[in-house]
Amino acid sequence: MSVYFNKEAAQIQLNTTGSSYVMQIRDGLLLHLYWGPRLDDRDHSYMHWEQGRAAFSCRMEGCTGPILDDIRLEYPTWGRGDNRSPAAEVIHPNGSNIADFRYVSHTVADGKAPLCGLPAMYANAGDDVQTLEITLEDKVGEMRLTLFYSVFYELDIITRHAVFTNLSDEEAILGAALSAAVDFDRADLDIITNYGTHCAERQIERAPLRRGKTVLSSRRGASSHVHNPFLILCDSETSETAGSAYGLVLVYSGSFSASVEGTQFGAARALIGLNPEGFGWMLEPGASFTTPEAVLCFSDDGLGGLSHRFHKAFRRNLCRGKFRDARRPVLLNMWEACYFGFDEARIKKIADCSADLGVELLVIDDGWFGRRDTDNCSLGDWVVDRRKLPGGLEAVYENIHKNGMQLGIWFEPEMVSPDSDLYRAHPDWALHIPDRPRSEGRHQLILDLTRQDVQDYLYDSIADILKTGMISYVKWDFNRNMAEVGSALLDARRQCEIPHRYYLGLYALLERLVTAFPDVLFESCSGGGGRFDAGMLYYMPQTWTSDNSDAIERLKIQYGTSLVYPLSAMSAHVSASPNHQTGHVTDFATRLTVALTGSFGYELDPTAISEEERQAIRESAALFKELGGVLAEGDYHRLISPYDKDCAAWSVVSSDKRVCVAGFVLTHVRMYGPNQRLPLRGLEPDANYKERFSGRIFSGRELMGFGIDIHLSLEYKSILWIFEKI
Ligand code: GLA
Repeated sequence: MSVYFNKEAAQIQLNTTGSSYVMQIRDGLLLHLYWGPRLDDRDHSYMHWEQGRAAFSCRMEGCTGPILDDIRLEYPTWGRGDNRSPAAEVIHPNGSNIADFRYVSHTVADGKAPLCGLPAMYANAGDDVQTLEITLEDKVGEMRLTLFYSVFYELDIITRHAVFTNLSDEEAILGAALSAAVDFDRADLDIITNYGTHCAERQIERAPLRRGKTVLSSRRGASSHVHNPFLILCDSETSETAGSAYGLVLVYSGSFSASVEGTQFGAARALIGLNPEGFGWMLEPGASFTTPEAVLCFSDDGLGGLSHRFHKAFRRNLCRGKFRDARRPVLLNMWEACYFGFDEARIKKIADCSADLGVELLVIDDGWFGRRDTDNCSLGDWVVDRRKLPGGLEAVYENIHKNGMQLGIWFEPEMVSPDSDLYRAHPDWALHIPDRPRSEGRHQLILDLTRQDVQDYLYDSIADILKTGMISYVKWDFNRNMAEVGSALLDARRQCEIPHRYYLGLYALLERLVTAFPDVLFESCSGGGGRFDAGMLYYMPQTWTSDNSDAIERLKIQYGTSLVYPLSAMSAHVSASPNHQTGHVTDFATRLTVALTGSFGYELDPTAISEEERQAIRESAALFKELGGVLAEGDYHRLISPYDKDCAAWSVVSSDKRVCVAGFVLTHVRMYGPNQRLPLRGLEPDANYKERFSGRIFSGRELMGFGIDIHLSLEYKSILWIFEKI
């Protein structure tokens, strides 16, 4: 049983294959006892540390109760003496901001219900999943708190979220409502996070936890290029293959906060959820508020083990639809080939050429609608620009279809250009604050997706095009962050709700679209990876990883992204050389080696390259068609980190261990290179493997023990190996 209740000890224990998570009810308080390697189901009361360290903190109930500041709480709230950061803050009608939730009851049920209006992990038929629901109440504050825990036994995953219900007959305000808190009894932990910027997102940073608070967050109205909504905590000696690691990932795409606080008593509190800065949510009498979901995973086999678990969970139990398990089509996106400068003839030329190369899906990026010759107009006017495409999408489609390919197009639905018919007709449809200037980013404003009429307009505009049946793929972009966050329709007291209401609106729109058009492959994008998060993966199984398509730069970006997100979620394309963002010159082989992820394609003009490169495209497209399944479902191993060395290496091993695709790239020239060998992982020790390109044969033990020998000295050169069991 995944959820075990020890009545005598008043202890609730959640078990997965390799981990346990234990809570205890004492004096009505819900305490956190343990999260780590799997335990047996006995009474673990001794794990509760109550040392009476007051240090100027208060005891509850006069001087007889516990010192909240000194104990580990399952879902800490503000106001009764716990002076660490809270998971929630409630502001009552009398102005007090105390919350004191006490245990009332709990229930356990098989399976997992969807979250109301929010993306969340789900159970497939046959999955061993149980859901625990703990009800707590603040009797004085007349508020109910329900904590949900779904235990995915085989995946070593526990999902959490909280629901607040106002039981009083007056309005109350939630000042903070995070998804999960974990009180560790120790602070000797490293924190691993992603940080970055546009074109350099999801870089890895690992640092020892310090006293005080480390906060990664976004208040940008998107999960953002700058931080990513997850936290990893681990022992200082935890490596890729060994040691304990704890991961908390938020299934959400908007402003968030993930923090860890080293406490005065050498403990640590991790929190993840909606960013409390600027947050406020009015709860009317009887109303409820549901937080986004947090996904928790413990690994005792290192960071690699943690990533494998998240990859599997997100691939199988978060991504949805017919593309979830399918090899993704080989696509060619024309953005870097043409930018805004295309017409029907140019597309035809590229299409005719691409078909011969093995491309399966041709994508017309930005510029096909309104009068969009540059990025300063027309967002919102989702009508084909007949100057460029006189025969409409129909003519383009017919030619592409005749060539045996599918057609994809770009949308940036959440935006409006001030120079657009939509904005001229509905200036109040943009997020704005009356009497204040409207700040533009890339000459555009953000539509107010809290409004039903805006959602309906977008649904109709997009559905009108998708209904024709010509479009097989949509790239859904989002190219600026929020400022002047105001809505014309919402009551003044509810304006703090807009950042979250915006995402409820976006998710509702996406749900309608993916339900109505199940055959369309949606790819998320936000200037590349500005919204690469588990929330978007629920609607769109892949994301354009970065606007930086340079193979060398992508090494760090993809390595960092792989901490949590599966290869199948990462779109990676072979782009032109010299690269358009960096000017790096790399050979085709290196660009291919790096781009071979679960979602592969090209970002170049096939008519403008040599016949030799076209042949390389043919061969690489065929290779992906053959190996795409393995790359999407296999176990990804980070072998050499580009953050530490002058090279990077990784491998993907199919679940049956029959195929291993491995890549190595040298990022700096070596005058006198070392004897470098690359030990692989996850192979069958007693099997023999033949490497496809060299014909060499190795045992699994050799490949994992000694490894493969590397002879490279020139920077940006690479090796791609395909080992097949014989
Ligand atoms: C964003 C995307 C690019 C491209 C452009 C089009 O920057 O990340 O891939 O689609 O928009 O304007």
